[in-house]
Amino acid sequence: MPTDAELADFYGGMERARLIPLWKVYKDHVPRAPSPRAVPHLWRFKEVLPLVRASGVLAPLTEGERRVLGFANPGLPYDGLAATTDTLWGALQYILPGEKARAHRHAAAAIRFILEGEGASTTVEGERCAVGPGDFVLTPPWAWHDHENTGSAPVIWMDGLDIIMVRELRGSFFEGAGEAPPAEPKPEGGSAARWAEGALRPAWERPRGKYSPLLLYKWEKTGRALRRLAASGQVCPYDDVAMDFTHPGTGGPVYPTMSCRIQLLRAGQRPRAHRHTGSAVYLCFRGRGHSVIEGRRFGWERGDAFCVPSWAWHEHAAGEGEAILFSINDLPVMEALGLYREEGLKEGNQKVK
Ligand SMILES: [Fe+2]
Ligand SMILES: [Fe+2]
Repeated sequence: MPTDAELADFYGGMERARLIPLWKVYKDHVPRAPSPRAVPHLWRFKEVLPLVRASGVLAPLTEGERRVLGFANPGLPYDGLAATTDTLWGALQYILPGEKARAHRHAAAAIRFILEGEGASTTVEGERCAVGPGDFVLTPPWAWHDHENTGSAPVIWMDGLDIIMVRELRGSFFEGAGEAPPAEPKPEGGSAARWAEGALRPAWERPRGKYSPLLLYKWEKTGRALRRLAASGQVCPYDDVAMDFTHPGTGGPVYPTMSCRIQLLRAGQRPRAHRHTGSAVYLCFRGRGHSVIEGRRFGWERGDAFCVPSWAWHEHAAGEGEAILFSINDLPVMEALGLYREEGLKEGNQKVK
């Protein structure tokens, strides 16, 4: 048997040599199941909206690149590196009439889902995309983008970015306006003319590229697709009438890092609970309802946002009428790396604690 002094000497030597005794810490490296630091949480629009409005007065757009209020998960540090889940960033962005958020570009992929307000536009690599409620816009990695509100009312949209995982992977780059030549102007609606027809594509285009070449997914089409699927009675046992926005050239997710989903929860339905690896951030676009996440009930209504950490049991249901949820998730990464795992709850629904 080694003496205490021998052991102290040995472990002290390990530390000085920057060596870790794995036999002491292996459980930290290989937990029996995913151990996200993020916790389930809901950001109530009622509480958030007054702060969004106040930001319009107290945080002029000239102060920073964007007027964005990020959803900071209570399980993660509340500092400059705050995040919504372990991999994703969700936020609300607010632009007043007449304002313009200057162009920039970054390696992180971003999406916007418009909650309210008409008359705003996002220009992506020189192509202007006019947006209204329910529209979904992509600003792919390293694409120049600026935002402008030429309407008469403030615009609020949800931003979703893979910026947390990009940062952790040390793959982040950023360039501001004037640091490089801006993108050449392109005709408005150009990407939609080429790619919005789904089963048809221009003869000269090939289904390539890591990012969806379609920049703007109009609500008119999204809503119609949801209705048609609902009417067909073909639904998901866990997510009800759920559709993923796809890369029209490949049928895969819009980004290799992040997928986006729109789902209609029908009134009177009680979809089952499941859990899977990967995290998600949700925004209630219409209606009201509730989610049970790890046995905790979160009631939500229009404008509320909430998150589901990796491997957390979750189920969603509409209230009296139907409800529509938009969400972003990191499932493409889990799938690409062979880390995707899913499990349905045998009992169907969770017991609320
Ligand atoms: Fe940006
Ligand atoms: Fe899920």
